Amino acid sequence: MNGTGNPVSHIRPALIEAPDKVDPPTRLALEHKGLEVQNIIAMGLNESCYPPSPKIIEAMQQNLSLVNRYPDAQCPHLTDIVSERTGIDRNCIVWGNGSEELIKGAIDLSLSPGQGLVLPVPTFWGYKSMVASFEANVAEVEMLPDGQTNIDGILGAIHNDTRIVFLITPNNPSGLMVDQAGLDEIVHGVPENVLLCVDEAYFDFGLHAGGPNVLETLKQRNAPWITIFTFSKAYAMAGMRIGYALCSDAKLAQALQKTTCVFNVPILAQFAGEAALLDTEYLDFILDQTANGRDQLFIGLKDLGLEPYPSVTNFVSTPVPMNGRDCLKAMLDKGVQINAWADPGYENHIRITVGTESDTETCLATLKKVLNSA
Ligand SMILES: Cc1ncc(COP(=O)(O)O)c(C=O)c1O
Repeated sequence: MNGTGNPVSHIRPALIEAPDKVDPPTRLALEHKGLEVQNIIAMGLNESCYPPSPKIIEAMQQNLSLVNRYPDAQCPHLTDIVSERTGIDRNCIVWGNGSEELIKGAIDLSLSPGQGLVLPVPTFWGYKSMVASFEANVAEVEMLPDGQTNIDGILGAIHNDTRIVFLITPNNPSGLMVDQAGLDEIVHGVPENVLLCVDEAYFDFGLHAGGPNVLETLKQRNAPWITIFTFSKAYAMAGMRIGYALCSDAKLAQALQKTTCVFNVPILAQFAGEAALLDTEYLDFILDQTANGRDQLFIGLKDLGLEPYPSVTNFVSTPVPMNGRDCLKAMLDKGVQINAWADPGYENHIRITVGTESDTETCLATLKKVLNSA
């Protein structure tokens, strides 16, 4: 307690009021709670059910002894590869400790307290706490009844004080992506003085499913934009914490870089990331397998009489005739970890990450039992 009698006057009020940091039920967290994780099928966190490429593992093993050294602050080797592949100037590429650090950075660089941010919802739960801590004036734009992102709603929510607009495509938890027409509308409709930030965490899956190339569309925008990618999903590297952002111009990239810590990307993550980008064969394997697994899950959910969203990602969501959290709990008790949507209004929605063929079979059989006994 200080002289003012206020025990928390050293903490920004916005952080006290912000929702508590979510503690995701990772495998290790479940183990710490005493659950026998070797008997639990993990289909809750949109991780890859496949291990990283053997080349990624080899690259990390070969460099384990280097961890007494700081990593390269700017990830120069990775930057070379991404710049060559995307045609984006090296000075416009920024690396992050997972894509989440860069999403947070985009808010940090653009917003002063009270200024406006437009966010389509429901979306990745991480946005809620990030947005709250920046004291943003948030305009949430509800998805359309079929789960599609409400593009007209997003454009209509932009006001004089709006500084940043988010587009998440494909989106989590719907699993749906914005089509080329929607993309054109938003890329050209967001005003020139507003930063358009696209979250492409599930980019590889969307492209594999025949979706539009967001970057090529963004290149036509004569106004600021950032698009953000991760190695957590299609490269099976969620535990390594590495992602990157492509920016419309070097000044914007420089500002984004200033929001990050100096040595934000671990040295092993950089070696792993290089190996991942070069092993395109393994990426294709994961994308093909995931598409097959997604079909199996989607059809299986339909066979249970449910109406799943036609996802293009590594997860499928569906309404169920019971509370989603109760469903999650009953599934976990029976050894399958899934997830439930967190947003109000969607209490009967669950989300299931694509698993191996046998995991998905077990998951569907377990869900059938849970729904039958509800
Ligand atoms: C839409 C979306 N964006 C960003 C992230 C954060 O990913 P990471 O920080 O692991 O790169 C996630 C994680 O699930 C997500 O679903």
